[in-house]
Amino acid sequence: MKNKIITLSIFSMLLFKGYNANSQTVKAKKQNKTTRVKSLSSEFDAKIDKLVAQMTLEEKIGMLHGNSMFSTGGVKRLGIPELKMADGPLGVREEISRDNWSAAGWDNDFATYYPASGALAATWNTKMAYTFGNSVGQEMRARDKDMLLSPAINIVRTPLGGRTYEYSTEDPFLNKKMAVPLIVGLQDNDVMACVKHFAANNQETNRDFVDVQIDERTLREIYLPAFEAAVKEAKAYSIMGAYNKFRGEYLCENDYMLNTILRDEWGFKGVVVSDWAAVHSTVKTLKNGLDIEMGTPKPFNEFFLADKLIAAAKAGEISEAEIDKHVKRILGVLFQVKAMGGKDRVKGSIATEAHYQDAYKIAAEAIVLLKNDHNALPLQLNGVKSIAVIGNNATKKNALGGFGAGVKTKREITPLEGLKNRLPSSIKINYAEGYLERYDKKNKGKLGDITLNGPVTIDKLDPEKLEEAINAAKNSDVAIVFAGSNRDYETEASDRRDLKLPFGQEELIKKVLAVNPRTIVVMIAGAPFEIEEISKETKALVWSWFNGSEGGNALADVLLGKVNPSGKLPWTMPREIMDSPAHATKSFPGDKTVTYAEGILVGYRWFDTKNIAPMYPFGYGLSYTTFAFENAKADKKEYDNDDIITVSVDVKNTGKVDGKEVVQLYASKSDSKIQRAAQELKGFKKVLVKAGENQKVTINVPVKELAYYNVTSKKWVVEPGSYTLKLGTSSRDIKKEVVVLIK
Ligand code: BGC
Repeated sequence: MKNKIITLSIFSMLLFKGYNANSQTVKAKKQNKTTRVKSLSSEFDAKIDKLVAQMTLEEKIGMLHGNSMFSTGGVKRLGIPELKMADGPLGVREEISRDNWSAAGWDNDFATYYPASGALAATWNTKMAYTFGNSVGQEMRARDKDMLLSPAINIVRTPLGGRTYEYSTEDPFLNKKMAVPLIVGLQDNDVMACVKHFAANNQETNRDFVDVQIDERTLREIYLPAFEAAVKEAKAYSIMGAYNKFRGEYLCENDYMLNTILRDEWGFKGVVVSDWAAVHSTVKTLKNGLDIEMGTPKPFNEFFLADKLIAAAKAGEISEAEIDKHVKRILGVLFQVKAMGGKDRVKGSIATEAHYQDAYKIAAEAIVLLKNDHNALPLQLNGVKSIAVIGNNATKKNALGGFGAGVKTKREITPLEGLKNRLPSSIKINYAEGYLERYDKKNKGKLGDITLNGPVTIDKLDPEKLEEAINAAKNSDVAIVFAGSNRDYETEASDRRDLKLPFGQEELIKKVLAVNPRTIVVMIAGAPFEIEEISKETKALVWSWFNGSEGGNALADVLLGKVNPSGKLPWTMPREIMDSPAHATKSFPGDKTVTYAEGILVGYRWFDTKNIAPMYPFGYGLSYTTFAFENAKADKKEYDNDDIITVSVDVKNTGKVDGKEVVQLYASKSDSKIQRAAQELKGFKKVLVKAGENQKVTINVPVKELAYYNVTSKKWVVEPGSYTLKLGTSSRDIKKEVVVLIK
């Protein structure tokens, strides 16, 4: 086992040479030789044919639908095991009962709670994505699972989206660059990724039936790139079909998406699994490309791909050859992950100190410093005898909560615990809860549902709690308010009504600030909130996330300066919701249909093109040091279509402490003949630069990355002419520009 781990880590190191965020072509070449990215192999075909020839119709169909909440049927007599799945994006979910949603009550299903995907994206570090995948992959194997229902890579179209924390970003480039290494890391462990939710599933409101209309160019440029890279580059073995409709057809029976795009265009050979209870037909579903129907509790033989399929086959409505095709795909992935023999399947390990440290590393790089006037942070403890720790979020746990997948864990360090762990014992902590979570009990977890009518009373502060908080702040040298939301408030199955901070937190923060000017505000949330007022009044503002098992320790290390923050926002923080594209165009949430009227102008593409100032821009995040960019240049002046543009820049750490900076490269074509966003992210690299030192950073941009999708020719086309490549530390802080010519 030990050898196995060493082998894996050597492979990981090799892999990283290939994981330069921008060197797609270089990487693709290297991948064949030096990494473990493995396509589905055809070496098992003969064995698979032989097995299928021995199976009855009923046995075959048993493999095409859930036989428990998280597995599909096997065929014992032929040595075919069940295909065992587990959620999800925060780590391996606790074991669920076989025939209902309640926990199975096992005592060996404690896992590491990893930072949510939004946090991972905020690291802007592709190595962290690999670490994440690899670490969760190990835990999956320790739980003897075959398929992780993750990563969730839908684009964050609206900041109100209930699953924003579970998704990564509003930007297709950052999305794919983080998704690929995560999937590779996971699948390196003889486990398949199930990449979800394919596709155009960007809201929770009416998600069971809403018909999403997206024009073709926008679909290709914004909503599909990460899925495409997951299939073509990371070789993901499975994909999850989404709940909603796309252009009139449910996504689990969508011929265009599943057959034309996924299989014919991208060459996907793995299995398509439905979201839970997202199937609506029998023959159509199978013919249009779905392989496995999963669902919510009802007798499993009543699923569309169960008894009804047996009947359809017997009535000649679907051929046995068609059924065999799907069965063979499933056997293919089972062989691939060594669930049907094969040497040395990874055994894995779970909730180990090493995995908690993986979670710590990701958490520490995810935290974003939004404001830091007069170097209020890191906290200088000279003369500090007491610190007020205020806010329900100081002690709130988020591994579980809300609707949807969480993790049962033995370790979730809260912010309060993190401070206690890291502060000298001589400093007194005065804790006050400050605000109460208030839910309408019957709507708990549904609170933000924008369809809710009527006044809500959740924003009222409790007078005693308020007084306690004010006293704690008055009587302490420093106050830290832990505000934001939690996983009961941000949740799957409902979007938020608005961007206001709930539970009266804004009032609380203002009152604390009024009595203690040395107040720091820490937001813990997975999605944007309206924080302009708070931002104006506080000197220091930090953004943390649903940040995993070690989140509290990582946060304390940032506040106290042991870790220099290097997280960058993976989405735009608007001043107000109506500035956001889906809302400005009044095209959210729609009703039976939602038309994405903003087209390609999603996220910062909208804000930058329309000149709307965001509260905090995409890619933004401060450090305890400062950086300067010098000597920006491209390796040539002119490029052909197949070339790679190598841009280099010297990053100088001009401050007093070591720090990591993310060099971001945005491309802009102001004289374009077609509609374009003002700028688009086309490369990035995170580097550690020691205080006072210089580091040369090179970013490779394949010319093909500059292409737009031409709907007439149905091809990616690079418009000739000049492009400005902008290098910055956020989408709104461009430090250098380089102009190149494409022939
Ligand atoms: C979610 C999926 C999840 C599945 C199983 C669905 O409600 O949309 O993301 O994997 O449930 O828990």
